[in-house]
Amino acid sequence: MPYPTGNPTNKHMISSPSMPADGTLQTSYGFSNTPDLFKALEDGAPSNLKRLGDVYSYADGPSPPLSRDFLVVGFADTALSVVRKLVGDDDDDTPPCLQKCLISSKRMDGSYAKSLRPKDMENSKAFSLFMRRLKKEGVVAIIAKDKYERFGILKPSESIHPEGELTADDFFGICYVGRVEPIKDFLAKGIRAVVDEAIVDESSVLWKPTGVMATNNGLWQPPGNNEDTGADPFSWKPPDGDTNGLSSGNDFEATFQNTWDTVESGVGNVLSTKRKRKDNEEHGGANNENDFHSNAGAAAADEFYSKLTRSLDTRAESRLFHMRSFNGWVKATQIQELDPRTKPDRGKAGGPMRVLDLACGKGGDLGKWVLHARGISNYVGSDVARGSLRDAAVRARQIRQKLKRCTFICADLGSDVPGRLKSPNSKYMQKLSMWSLQDESEHETGTPEFRMLRGGGIASNEKFDVISIQFAIHYMMQTKQRAQRFFETVSQLLEIGGNLIATTIDARVVIAHLMNLGLDLHFDESRNSTMDQEAIIEVGGGACRIQFEPKVVKRIFQSQADSSTCVDDLFGLEYSFTLVEGSDHAAGVGNAVNLPEWLTPIPALKCLAAEAGLELEYVQNFHEFFAIRNDPNTHTAAHSALYNMKVLNRNGSLSTEEWEISHLYCAVKFRKVSESTMKLDDIVEEAEEEDEIAPLRLKQIDPLVKAKLMPRAMREAKQNIGNEAWLKLSAEEKKHVVDVSIEKLVLECG
Ligand SMILES: C[S@@+](CC[C@H](N)C(=O)[O-])C[C@H]1O[C@@H](n2cnc3c(N)ncnc32)[C@H](O)[C@@H]1O
Repeated sequence: MPYPTGNPTNKHMISSPSMPADGTLQTSYGFSNTPDLFKALEDGAPSNLKRLGDVYSYADGPSPPLSRDFLVVGFADTALSVVRKLVGDDDDDTPPCLQKCLISSKRMDGSYAKSLRPKDMENSKAFSLFMRRLKKEGVVAIIAKDKYERFGILKPSESIHPEGELTADDFFGICYVGRVEPIKDFLAKGIRAVVDEAIVDESSVLWKPTGVMATNNGLWQPPGNNEDTGADPFSWKPPDGDTNGLSSGNDFEATFQNTWDTVESGVGNVLSTKRKRKDNEEHGGANNENDFHSNAGAAAADEFYSKLTRSLDTRAESRLFHMRSFNGWVKATQIQELDPRTKPDRGKAGGPMRVLDLACGKGGDLGKWVLHARGISNYVGSDVARGSLRDAAVRARQIRQKLKRCTFICADLGSDVPGRLKSPNSKYMQKLSMWSLQDESEHETGTPEFRMLRGGGIASNEKFDVISIQFAIHYMMQTKQRAQRFFETVSQLLEIGGNLIATTIDARVVIAHLMNLGLDLHFDESRNSTMDQEAIIEVGGGACRIQFEPKVVKRIFQSQADSSTCVDDLFGLEYSFTLVEGSDHAAGVGNAVNLPEWLTPIPALKCLAAEAGLELEYVQNFHEFFAIRNDPNTHTAAHSALYNMKVLNRNGSLSTEEWEISHLYCAVKFRKVSESTMKLDDIVEEAEEEDEIAPLRLKQIDPLVKAKLMPRAMREAKQNIGNEAWLKLSAEEKKHVVDVSIEKLVLECG
């Protein structure tokens, strides 16, 4: 970077602690760790500063301009981690929270010296010697905060020579300016650290922050192959080249118009075969530690998902590798787009979010959440599969530095209720098996130990800004009661203004497939279908198979034929879903999922959500989801992520099979607009099942205990929310947050 040639826009007076004649800047005024550096910024400039001289800033400077007084509060070694992370070696890699600009004094090298007045010469010489000293000692100068809460890091030019004749490089420095809080956030989240450390696992893939496309060099890396076919990375087209992303180009027409909120869709390669269905009873019966889950579907999911291991190697072998990456991309995009505005005021301040990840599995989305621009103050994951949760806890330990608080709770979300009473008549919150990162020492490496805790560790007045249920809401649709229970729990735990996001099988597309099977759809006088065959839909060259029993197909056809069908009839539409990823079953690449699932008709979803106070913001088939975000100019970060997350194969696309299968999924987003008015059908039965352990309510906590816990509760509440957001809370909101914290402490201490 050369001496600036543009017109200076502002003049500043730079002052620094006096240069020690013996000893180094680092030993005399240095910071040897990050907390000291930030503390010095809070303390303000020291009193012993001496004026060095005048410097100038240019059009690349921040707006509002830098302060007139440029005060050096001390020095930091360039090897110090905070310096490396913020201003590193690579000048093109400045984090988004910092702005880079040039600061200079007038040049006095060569012929320039002749035109300078003696006063200017003296001024420039002082600054150039200062820059040389920084260079020689391998330090940067830390500039005090200005009234906009911005501080700076002043670094000498890379090409400066600490000895010899003065050259142009001695008369300028590079200044990195940024606001303290976003910088702290950045350091805490360690976006760059996450990218550097490449936490690559089966579904935790990387999301680069906005702006990466500006330096697009080498971003496109075909998985496991460096053979670049020259495909234009900016113009990914679906395999068959369609432009709206909704038609695969196969001959296809839905026979019925009433395809539960119709999609205009087309998917090919659909077969129908009559096959004997595997008896799912064995799943229910096979679940040991019997009765852990009262529901057979939940027990089957526990059994199946707890045992499911798909290592990185086998995942890469899968013929559905890019489809899985595409699924991950949809989730990451949904997550990154979130910006809920919730109360108390934390949402408005754009502060860190409280996240509840339902059916979180092995915590594969943790890596996506910690990269969210707003940061995460609390992450709670819940799932029915105990084995998966243990893996998730291990994963959380690995990114401990990026997680303030993290808890995993084992619950069947169609029946159990974490953090709330099951009914207004209930006296007690349920005890649920849980594990918390914050309960452990940093060095814990053994098997994560789960313990039973009331509410699973969620306090009765604790809420979330975002609730996510990825690739799992279909497990809630077995009965209306279970789906209601799920939505009620979501509503109770979600703050007004908060979002529920989900991905699931797109019932509209599945039905369109069914309609295209050429099954006998005639009805007899009593409007029953005469069809008696099972229906099997095969998509993606047979890699995906969806199988329905005749009685379910009949119900679906009836609901399609009869527009007066009540939403109550749209539950329990069971199918079994199989993804055959490769031929090597022993290596875990065989049948990926073969569990009973239930269709998720959009009208049923909308209806229950509305009763729970949630408004549908969108439901987008994955093809549509992609088409909407395909333009790199309007969706730069999402588009970049297609490459970073290895969504595209070496032809810059997905295989036809993968693209067809991805059409089977949709993404959904709701916003909570009011409190729930839902009347739970299973409420009496559930209330009777309550256990007998003492209830926990804040008002019942001994005032002495409460007083004793208050300082810690306040400290933890502040820590969770972040100082900036905390300062913006009203007294009442602070009290609420501290109350939540006290209740949690009491829960945790038993
Ligand atoms: C396809 S996996 C998705 C996991 C994770 N959300 C993801 O996107 O990677 C479905 C998850 O739903 C969970 N699940 C199934 N039925 C459930 C239930 N009744 N309650 C809670 N979780 C359930 C399974 O254990 C499994 O972890």
